Amino acid sequence: MQNSLKFWNDAAGKYARSPIKDMPAYEKTMERTRNYLKNTDDVLELGCGTGSTALLLADAAGRITATDLSPEMIALAKGKLDQSDIENVEFRAASVEDALDNGQEHDVVLAFNLLHLLEDSAGVIARAHQAIRPGGYFISKSVCLPSGTPSFKFGLMRLAIPVMQFFGKAPFVKFMSTSDLDKLVEETGFRIVETGNYPASPPSHFIVAQKC
Ligand SMILES: C[S@@+](CC[C@H](N)C(=O)[O-])C[C@H]1O[C@@H](n2cnc3c(N)ncnc32)[C@H](O)[C@@H]1O
Repeated sequence: MQNSLKFWNDAAGKYARSPIKDMPAYEKTMERTRNYLKNTDDVLELGCGTGSTALLLADAAGRITATDLSPEMIALAKGKLDQSDIENVEFRAASVEDALDNGQEHDVVLAFNLLHLLEDSAGVIARAHQAIRPGGYFISKSVCLPSGTPSFKFGLMRLAIPVMQFFGKAPFVKFMSTSDLDKLVEETGFRIVETGNYPASPPSHFIVAQKC
């Protein structure tokens, strides 16, 4: 956790300055997500980074509490909030465990570009299930390996990441296939309502899962 905290605190400034890599894929993700939000919903976002997504979705939700492990990310997010006239978003520094284990229930939990960065993604999905009201949604997008035999390109990526991690240039990354992640979400007790890959390669796997 300490390594992860340092990595993301150090990365915050650069992360804020970097443009979104694939804007059509991001817009598709936001458009699909909006379909599941109501203006009365209490939404919790995990790993919100510098807050752009929470601010963008604010008009579709009742209230959004957006959380991130990194206080540096949260400071940048609060700066953006201060520059806006949005009143229904709150940013808070919190690990996924702290954000989910406080006994509060939510209509929707969001986790964009996060699950593949967590050592205990299964535990976090289970905690999210606990924290979502019946009928509510867990909406996530995670970088995955394609299902089936990985290509040469993905083989190389798997080799390169540990080297980058050794030099502090990459965070913890878990390699899951899209089908493994779907299975994990379903085994936790969610019903998958839709999936998609935005972008398709490497698959940034979007899952909308409902608590029945
Ligand atoms: C790749 S960024 C994604 C940020 C944002 N969700 C987005 O889609 O642009 C991953 C974020 O997850 C946060 N993070 C990593 N591990 C975390 C943890 N254990 N608890 C909460 N946040 C975490 C990092 O600080 C970082 O801001």
